[in-house]
Amino acid sequence: MKIRIGFIGCGGIAGAHMERLVRIENVEFVGMCDVEKERAEKAAQKYGGKVYTDFEQMLDEVKMDACYICVPPFAHKGQEEMCIEKGIHLFVEKPVHLELEKAEEIAKRVQQKGLITGVGYVLRYFDVVDEAREIIAKEQIAFARGRYYGGVPGEGKNKWLITKSMSGGQLVEQATHIVNMMQYFFGDIEEVYGYKIEGINNKIYPGYDVEDASSLLFKFKNGYIGNLTCTWLWSGFNSGIEVVGKGIVIDYQGNTLTVDRGNKRNISISSLDPMFEEEKAFVKAVETGDPSYVKSDYLDGLKTFAVTLKAHEAMEKGVPVKI
Ligand SMILES: NC(=O)c1ccc[n+]([C@@H]2O[C@H](COP(=O)([O-])OP(=O)(O)OC[C@H]3O[C@@H](n4cnc5c(N)ncnc54)[C@H](O)[C@@H]3O)[C@@H](O)[C@H]2O)c1
Repeated sequence: MKIRIGFIGCGGIAGAHMERLVRIENVEFVGMCDVEKERAEKAAQKYGGKVYTDFEQMLDEVKMDACYICVPPFAHKGQEEMCIEKGIHLFVEKPVHLELEKAEEIAKRVQQKGLITGVGYVLRYFDVVDEAREIIAKEQIAFARGRYYGGVPGEGKNKWLITKSMSGGQLVEQATHIVNMMQYFFGDIEEVYGYKIEGINNKIYPGYDVEDASSLLFKFKNGYIGNLTCTWLWSGFNSGIEVVGKGIVIDYQGNTLTVDRGNKRNISISSLDPMFEEEKAFVKAVETGDPSYVKSDYLDGLKTFAVTLKAHEAMEKGVPVKI
C-alpha cells in the first residue's frame, strides 16, 4: 500500500525528513508547499509531488494519506485544522504551536477523528533511551537534572528564532526536547517554577527579545522532582539529562547512556539514526492504523508545549504554576 505524503514547509527540517522518507519503499511524495516557491520546487524536483505556495489549495487539490507540517512556530495558521477536516494523518514539528488553546483544540479533534499523529521529538527513537527507561522503571529514582546549553542559532540571523512572538524563545523552541524527554522518563509534570536571565544577548544580536538563560523546577505527578537549566549564552552545544536514584546515576546525552553505580560504570552508545526510526514508525502507524508505533504523538507534544508555556508564566509571575 502506497502512503501518499505532502509537506507544508520545505525548509531545513522538512529536508531532513524527506531524505529519510524517500528510503521507505512505499512512500510517495504527492505535494510540496512552501510560501517560498523555490523551496517547494527544489523539494519536488528531488522527491516528486506538485508544487504549491498555499497549503489550502494543496489540501483541496491533492489526495494524501499524511501531511508533514514543518513550519516555524508562528506559522501554524490552520494547517492542522484543515488536515483534520480532510481526514489526513499529521506529523507536526515541535513545538506543536504557539497558542495553547488552539493546540488543545487540535489535540481534541485528532482524537475525535481517530487520526494518527506524530511530533518531531526525535530523541525518543534512540535505542539507548529505551534502555534508560527500563533501568529507571526498576530503580528507586528520586530526581532528574536536565541541561540545554547552546549558542544563539545562526548567530541571530534567523530572526524568527530570536523573536519571542515568533518562536516562543529558547525553552519553547529548543529546550522543549529535554522537557519532552523528562516526561518520557518520569511521566506527566504537575507543577513548574522558574527564573530567567535577560539582557546579555540583546546587546549583541539586533531584535533579540528572548531569555538568555532559564532555570526551572518541576514536580512530576508520580512524585519525582526535576530541574532544567537552559542557555543560549554559550558557543558550543551540550544537552542531556541526569537521572539520580538510590545507588545510581544515569546520564543520557544524545546517543550515549552512561549508568554509574559507584563501583561500576556502563556506557552504551547507539548507532541508530533516530530520525529514520521516527519516519519508519510514523509511516507504519499510518499504514496499519496502529498509533502505538509512534513514540510522541500530538497529545504528548501538547503536554510538553504546555509545560514550557507555564514555565514562562511562572517566570513572569514569580510563583509556581500548575499544568
Ligand atoms: N525535531 C527536531 O529536532 C527539529 C530540528 C529543527 C527544526 N525543528 C522544528 O521544525 C520547524 C521548522 O524549522 P526549520 O528549521 O525547518 O525552519 P526553516 O526556516 O528552515 O523552514 C521553515 C519553512 O517553512 C516555510 N513556511 C513558513 N510559513 C509557511 C506557510 N504558512 N506555509 C508553507 N510554508 C511555510 C518557510 O518558508 C520555510 O521554508 C520549527 O518548529 C523547528 O523547531 C525541529
